[in-house]
Amino acid sequence: MNAVSIPVRTRPAYQVQVGPGLLPDFGRILRDTLGHCRAAVVTDSVVGPLYLDAVRESLQSAGFRTVPHTVPAGEAHKNLSTLGGILEFLARERLTRSDALVALGGGVVGDMAGFAAAVYLRGIRYAQIPTTLLSAVDSSVGGKTAVDLRAGKNLAGAFAQPAAVLCDTDFLRTLPPETFADGMAEVVKTGVLSGESLLSMCEAGEVAAHETEVIARCVAYKAGVVERDEREQNERRLLNLGHTVGHAVEKCSGYTIPHGHAVAAGLGVIARAAEAFGWTAEPVAARICGCLAANGLPCGTDFPPEALSEAALSDKKRAGDTVTLVIPERVGGCVLRAVPVAELPDIIRAGCAPWT
Ligand code: GLY
Repeated sequence: MNAVSIPVRTRPAYQVQVGPGLLPDFGRILRDTLGHCRAAVVTDSVVGPLYLDAVRESLQSAGFRTVPHTVPAGEAHKNLSTLGGILEFLARERLTRSDALVALGGGVVGDMAGFAAAVYLRGIRYAQIPTTLLSAVDSSVGGKTAVDLRAGKNLAGAFAQPAAVLCDTDFLRTLPPETFADGMAEVVKTGVLSGESLLSMCEAGEVAAHETEVIARCVAYKAGVVERDEREQNERRLLNLGHTVGHAVEKCSGYTIPHGHAVAAGLGVIARAAEAFGWTAEPVAARICGCLAANGLPCGTDFPPEALSEAALSDKKRAGDTVTLVIPERVGGCVLRAVPVAELPDIIRAGCAPWT
């Protein structure tokens, strides 16, 4: 499939461009979007050595003056200290409100650099260049930006839509298999939410051969949800399928388990719990767990249910005495269910019970 462009009709609206061989066009596309300005390119210590020079060259050949900033790679560095370093860098370089930030990397860089753009000078424009499958299918789109706090994941952040998202699928060639699998968790999640045809592609192992199509489908699905509920008042909460327990798994592991693997575990736990509590309209757990396993992902966790419940209660999905869970009633039919906080340990325990 050649490059495709998916509109996201938020305010402001933007295009997500996906396809192979896009890198040489990044500069031209961003100049058409941002005009002539300076661009701070923020990347991390893994992605920088691979792609920073090529991205700067593409931008500079289109007339941008670029300044680079590299942060240490990994979720452990997605914190206020690294955010402060990005903000001080932008100020030192005297970027103005007519300039822009370009986030080059996976979900951690995208979330953190996006947050820096959202608050620097009370907001400058930014573009996302996702380099992982996870950031391409999920985190680069929709304008959620954040850093982690000691109390939990993504607890300080802002909604700030990017001006553009540019995804060169050739970048996925350098992903270690485990990192590709990490992104598959969000693809499987989107399959469970959106319906049969995407989930079947995941089950059949067809994603790698159809990357552009799969990324475009995930982005188009997410764009529709975000357009209807940009600030996560209602429908957008469905995109958190697997994330309540997933974030708890990440926290219990001291952020050593990557986001996608934790979401996969959370997806397996909530699917089994939903079945055990009679909340499903068709058997979903065996299918979801089989699909996760076929894509090199876990579908459960060894952390004690009590520790997971405790960690989950610092998540943003809690409101007073209830926590809102996303329940997979059927493939293509997930619903929100507010449950009393006191019931969460039993629900998680049911989802963690040995699988027969
Ligand atoms: N990753 C879920 C969302 O963007 O809403």
